[in-house]
Amino acid sequence: MARKQLIAGNWKMNGGLAANGLLIDAIEAGIGSPACEVAVCVPAPYLSQMADRLLGLPVMLGAQDISAFAQGAYTGEVSGAMLRDFDVCYAIVGHSERRQYHGEADAAVAAKAEAALAVGILPIVCVGETLAEREAGQTEAVVRRQLAAVAGRLGDRTGAIVLAYEPVWAIGTGKTATPQEAQAVHAALRAQLGETGGADAADKVRILYGGSMNAANAAQLLAQPDIDGGLIGGASLKAADFLAIVAAAH
Ligand code: PGA
Repeated sequence: MARKQLIAGNWKMNGGLAANGLLIDAIEAGIGSPACEVAVCVPAPYLSQMADRLLGLPVMLGAQDISAFAQGAYTGEVSGAMLRDFDVCYAIVGHSERRQYHGEADAAVAAKAEAALAVGILPIVCVGETLAEREAGQTEAVVRRQLAAVAGRLGDRTGAIVLAYEPVWAIGTGKTATPQEAQAVHAALRAQLGETGGADAADKVRILYGGSMNAANAAQLLAQPDIDGGLIGGASLKAADFLAIVAAAH
């Protein structure tokens, strides 16, 4: 079991040409040779800027979404082939903000994961429960349903995805799952990968934690046996915080 941890920044709809340049300047100055894999998932208009800026840096480029379709009359969508033109390695799919504000259901998330793999992009598939679902004791049932939709479609290709457990109540709220709470869900997800994802999926798939991970709590979360990295929103917009999280990973 030698999974290399992945620290992926999710810039969401933040930044701009000038601000992105400054952020990458600071990351470049401090990143050194990280022990983990590092990525930044940037808004689509800045893929070109970041593809240029990340050349030679130990930071991979990611997108925040990907179309389920290969090409054609899908106004506003960005295809996997277009992302590949900018050396995109990762695409977030099924983020709770897209599920909530854009009506993305489990089937669409699964189709997007498949579209990513079809062009050699690794989908970072997000799952997570709302506060109401957690309080009703439904956490495992919810994330199980969300993962099952993807594993059902991908079958033995499930081992190629990255999974991200992002409790919705922890995203952008400053409330983090405790390392124990997160580890329990990660372990359940890994067991499910073993049941449904093909032979080596449980061993291979990196399960990231996301939801108010920051410089202060990263080390404890990343020390859990089934937490293989982080999907970082707010703290990825400050170079010092992002670099501190990278330094806490292995
Ligand atoms: P947060 O966001 O770190 O700001 O909570 C994480 C995410 O939504 O991916």
